[in-house]
Amino acid sequence: MTAPRSAGLFAPDILADPYPTYADLRAQPGAFWQPHPNGAGGMWMLTRHADVEQALKDQRLTKDASRVRDVGDQTMPSHMLDRDPPDHTRMRNLVAHAFTPRVIEGQEAHIRDIARTLLGRVELGQPFEAMRNYAMPLPVIVIAELLGVPEDDRDSFRHWSSDFIDGSDFATATPDTAGKAQQGIMALGGYFTELVETRRAAPTDDLISHLVRAEEELGALEPGELVSNCLLLVIAGHETTVNLIGNGLLALLNHPEELARLRAQPTLLPGAIEEMLRYDPPVQRALFRAALEDIEIGGQRIGKGEQVSAVIGAANRDSSVFPDPNAFDITRSPNRHLSFGRGLHFCLGAPLAKLEARVAFEELLHVFPEMKLKSLTRRPSSMFRGLGELWLDGPPA
Ligand code: HEM
Repeated sequence: MTAPRSAGLFAPDILADPYPTYADLRAQPGAFWQPHPNGAGGMWMLTRHADVEQALKDQRLTKDASRVRDVGDQTMPSHMLDRDPPDHTRMRNLVAHAFTPRVIEGQEAHIRDIARTLLGRVELGQPFEAMRNYAMPLPVIVIAELLGVPEDDRDSFRHWSSDFIDGSDFATATPDTAGKAQQGIMALGGYFTELVETRRAAPTDDLISHLVRAEEELGALEPGELVSNCLLLVIAGHETTVNLIGNGLLALLNHPEELARLRAQPTLLPGAIEEMLRYDPPVQRALFRAALEDIEIGGQRIGKGEQVSAVIGAANRDSSVFPDPNAFDITRSPNRHLSFGRGLHFCLGAPLAKLEARVAFEELLHVFPEMKLKSLTRRPSSMFRGLGELWLDGPPA
């Protein structure tokens, strides 16, 4: 089936491999107007590195939809990623206070234990599906444990989150997946509302208890903001890291010479992870931004109230910043990818994501002295880029 012209960048065949289309768009002056698939309005897609970087940092672009349009009654209060200063600063400081580098660094041994337990299920000579059995559960267990979600609740928690992700992307959702997304986010919201109250009554040493304490010590949050920021941590904290591990693994499998270099010199791993982030970024385009006034980016006039999409996946292949941008080079340096964003909203979880990925690859390469791709499926999305399944030939018997 051919997609309607209005599908533009969101046409299924383009989403399957958007990089050639990104190259065409970068070469054109100004920005590309992507109509909204439901016919109402659209957004300016920025694809060059300089323009994407500017959009991520430019405070004339708001993250708060209510400043440019009537958003009606919102079902959930907002979190830091859809607010501007001073509300953004207040919420980010509160979460950062509980989410310190020391908390993150202290996780390494535990993350390794989780990775080893998951890989303990690999059977010699048997194919191994690496997404559902490894890339997905690892970050879910890590963020669930950090937040203090009891083990018995993790399966529901993971299903609610993936229902939300699969059905909330307007470019790929169907009425069925959109309905499930709504149910998923409501269930997650209800779950965390209860968990926050439980921890308020009887604090433990988990992140939610720290957030409750920080909220009480550092100043009030609006009702619901604590829960909403927990949901952000859950969703931002694992759906992305899953895809860093999955997309990174696929890049290594498709570039055996780079995989061999990495095996020969394991100290190259941190640089290899930066290159995985650049080459096939988990977040292809940054979240909502709209102009508070008439502005110009990359020669494109953007009218007050118009929406802008910063296409990180396109910026990361801009040849004016990255020589030979389509090559996967684990020693690329410098590597100024935009995969964690830029500016005030720069990813708060970047150190955790990199730690999880480093441990995940160290353990996987150890268990699989040889690795070969058998088959894969993709998860349809215009925002996140990732795999549904990735089958490997098992380690030799
Ligand atoms: C490879 C994994 C990850 C990627 C690629 C990623 C990517 C991003 C990007 C692009 C943004 C900025 C979005 C924008 O400006 O529109 C962002 C923000 C954010 N990320 Fe991540 N992220 C990852 C992992 C994590 C983890 C593990 C956590 C936490 C546990 C996390 C928490 C956040 C938060 C809280 C924000 C909002 C920051 C703010 O608004 O000030 N992320 N992330």
